[in-house]
Order: sequence, then structure tokens, then C-alpha cells
Amino acid sequence: MSGPNTIRLGPTERGIRAGVALLRRGGLVAFPTETVYGLGADARDERAVAGIYRAKGRPSRNPLIVHVADAEAAFALIDLPEKGRAAAAAFWPGPLTLVAPVREGAGIAAICRAGAPTLAVRVPAAPLALDLLRAFGGPLAAPSANLSGQVSPTSADHVMEELTGRIDGVLDGGECAVGLESTILGFEDDMPVLLRPGGVTVEALEAVLGPVRALGIVEDVAPNAPGQMTSHYAPGAALRLAAVEPRLGEAWLGFGADPQRGSALSLNLSPEGSLEVAAANLFAHLRTLDTLLDGKGTIAVAPIPAEGLGHAINDRLARAAAPR
Ligand code: TXA
Ligand code: MG
Repeated sequence: MSGPNTIRLGPTERGIRAGVALLRRGGLVAFPTETVYGLGADARDERAVAGIYRAKGRPSRNPLIVHVADAEAAFALIDLPEKGRAAAAAFWPGPLTLVAPVREGAGIAAICRAGAPTLAVRVPAAPLALDLLRAFGGPLAAPSANLSGQVSPTSADHVMEELTGRIDGVLDGGECAVGLESTILGFEDDMPVLLRPGGVTVEALEAVLGPVRALGIVEDVAPNAPGQMTSHYAPGAALRLAAVEPRLGEAWLGFGADPQRGSALSLNLSPEGSLEVAAANLFAHLRTLDTLLDGKGTIAVAPIPAEGLGHAINDRLARAAAPR
């Protein structure tokens, strides 16, 4: 395949300038946020955004998140209810995406919404993402910078492994601090509805907003099959969840005090039992074990507590384990 020559850009003023130049020409540049790496393009440029779908092999019915540098810029794009503004005040910049009706004249390429009347917007917290957004001076559409359906990238190396030759550049900011995608929150009237658990916990949202309806998880679900779990975030190997110990030949992904530590095919998400550390390690550990297994066989995964970030970790594991 003879696609673009993918260049790695350093986390410097020069790297950012080069990234901006590529984006202004309608190019595709991956950049680090605190959640995962995003694959950025000018959100106002229909042709550039179409390139994102092509590079990822992403179905055109799956809308994109638009990233902006501050809440004011977000408020100019979408019409948020009062609780949406409260969520923005409490959690932006940060790992939260808000979904609301797009404003007329927002100037965002329609293809970003994939036909929906709503638009998803987020203000990331990673300094390099904010530097890039400010230098670019406009909105960037950016899904996770992986091939569609695969595990999200938490380092520039992960991006390079899958997208070299398909995109123009990667801004290398090292590893992502949170390691799980943003929490996505929509609204029914003024009632917050959780569309995807992520880097901001439901507990933290409810402390600010009051009750959050948890029935709304619609991510990547076929329109006529509500609640159906589809395969996503998936390594090549199969996953066996909430396992007590590995069976013969299985790789092991542990959490907390772990009898399997030290075996060749074993990693631990957080020996000390921290859900924050486990979230940061999840995707990289899945990739490493998948590589060791050559994309075949099974990874047995220890139970993860269903609290705090554990909800988002268990959501990603369930999707990775879903029938392909
Ligand atoms: O942390 C993140 O959110 C990362 C970083 C790069 O920002 N982005 C990310 O994007 O995870 P992506 O495309 O991999 O996942 C975004 C999800 C998709 O499942 C999409 O269906 C959903 O957001 N989404 C986008 N626009 C939506 C809308 N208008 N209504 C409902 N869901 C929407
Ligand atoms: Mg994704």
C-alpha cells in the first residue's frame, strides 16, 4: 500500500507547528489526550474528516467526537441544558464528552455527526492536546487512533503499529495518563444519561449533577437492536473474564495480590489493587499479551471490582470479550 509517509512529531513547539501545518492542509494527525490517542482532522473540513473514516476503516454510521480548547468554544457548537453546563464547569478540561443538539451555523462538517441531530464535544486536559488545539485555532474531530474495532492506543508506538502509511503524522507525547476513553454523557430534557462509562466515574458525576440515568449506553450498537453488545476494543486473542486462575495454555491478566506473577504469559493491571493504575495499564497490557499469544488463544482476566473506574474497565473488557 502506498499511503502517506507517517511522520513522528516531537512534543515541542516545532512538532506542534508541523502538526498544525498538516492539519491545515486537510491531513490526519494523531495526538495524545489524557484518555487515549485521538486521530485528528479539521472538523470543519468534510474531506479531511472523510479521511478519518477511511484510515480507520470506521463504519460511516458511527459519529465522531469534536475536540476544542475551552468550554466557550464548546458552548458555541452545542446547545447544552443547565446540567450540561454544570458538568462542563466541573469536569472540563478532562475525560468527559458531552452530547447535545448541534447549533445552527456551528460550521462542523455534517459527516462528524453521521446523521445524528446531536454532536459530541470534549475539552481534553492533556497539555499537548490543548497546545495543539490552540495553535490550530479550530475544532478537531478525533476518534481513538486505532483501526476500527481494535484496542485503543495509549502510546505513539501503538498508533504507529496500526496506522503507519494511513495517516500523516503522530504527535508523540508518551503514555496517556488515564488510559481509558472519556465518559460520554447525553441528556434527555435536563436528565443526564450515561452513553459510555469512562475516565470520569459515575460517582463523581452524580456528586455534581444528582442522579445519572445509566440505561443509555448506545455506543456502537445497531440502531434496531438496543442493548446488544457488539465486539469492540478487541485483541486477536479471546478473553475469559472474572477468572479465578489461568487454565493450561492461557495468558493471565491479574489485578491485586496475584499468585500468577512471574509466569511468562502473565501481567498484572495493578499489584497494589489501584483502579486508576489498572485503567492506565489496561490497553497496553492487552496488546502485550495479545502479541505474546500471536493473536490466538485466550487471555484469562481476574475479576475487577465494580466501583469507580472499575465500571469503565469492566465495560471495555466485556466488549473485548463479546462474540466477533
Ligand atoms: O477519550 C475519548 O473519548 C477519545 C479521545 C481521542 O478523545 N475518543 C474516542 O472516540 O474514544 P471514539 O470515536 O473511539 O469513540 C467515540 C464514541 C463512539 O462510540 C460514538 O458512537 C460516540 O462516541 N458518539 C459520537 N458522537 C455521538 C453522538 N452524537 N451521540 C451519541 N454517541 C456519539
Ligand atoms: Mg474508539
